Amino acid sequence: MSRRGRFITLEGGEGVGKTTNGALIRAWLEARGIEVVATREPGGTPGAERIRELLLGADGDDPLCDDAELLLVFAARAQHLARKIRPALERGAWVLCDRFTDATYAYQGAGRGGDIAQIATLERLVQGELRPDLTLLLDMPLAASQARLASRLAAQGGERDRFEQERGAFFERVRRGYLARAEAEPGRITVIDAARPLERVQADILARLETEVAAWR
Ligand SMILES: Nc1ncnc2c1ncn2[C@@H]1O[C@H](COP(=O)(O)OP(=O)(O)OP(=O)(O)O)[C@@H](O)[C@H]1O
Ligand SMILES: [Mg+2]
Repeated sequence: MSRRGRFITLEGGEGVGKTTNGALIRAWLEARGIEVVATREPGGTPGAERIRELLLGADGDDPLCDDAELLLVFAARAQHLARKIRPALERGAWVLCDRFTDATYAYQGAGRGGDIAQIATLERLVQGELRPDLTLLLDMPLAASQARLASRLAAQGGERDRFEQERGAFFERVRRGYLARAEAEPGRITVIDAARPLERVQADILARLETEVAAWR
């Protein structure tokens, strides 16, 4: 099995179940003898995690401007690709990443109103030809995911980050941005209805992964 590993990304707004389902996917793939490198963006290496802190932390009296935010996202991604994602794929591991460049199109593009062509230019600069092989987009109405987030916050504590403090209209744009990506690339991006009970969500995800594993072996 000298083939390059598969690159799978999990996408969707806040609280849709990316982390919950990521753990399941990892265990499922490992049970099939596949080496999985589970990681996340922004971040994934110590250097990229430091950039994450800049992106998610409190702004203080000098709020990040939109261009700085966009460039930091891609700076973190460049580091993550060079140090973790590309080496893992090259040795045949599967990489499972909680958010990737579709999130940049959704948040910095649709959410912030950034120029999509500029994002595409940065994507080519930082990634070259590399794109995910499969993207699972967890989609659900905003009110329901906000309710999940609120109960997670109540149960586990923690603070809302720079993005979680945004208003509802921002997240509506993010959701639309994600769905537009899925419409443009239906072969790569599978939309999963994440509003359903977890067992149903998981069954759909695993059915899609079965196909991916069968095609790869
Ligand atoms: N299908 C589901 N039904 C009900 N609750 C769910 C479902 N999936 C996840 N949850 C719960 O919703 C909350 C948010 O899930 P999770 O943390 O996995 O989302 P996330 O997409 O990783 O969020 P974030 O964007 O903040 O990282 C958790 O408390 C989780 O247990
Ligand atoms: Mg998460």
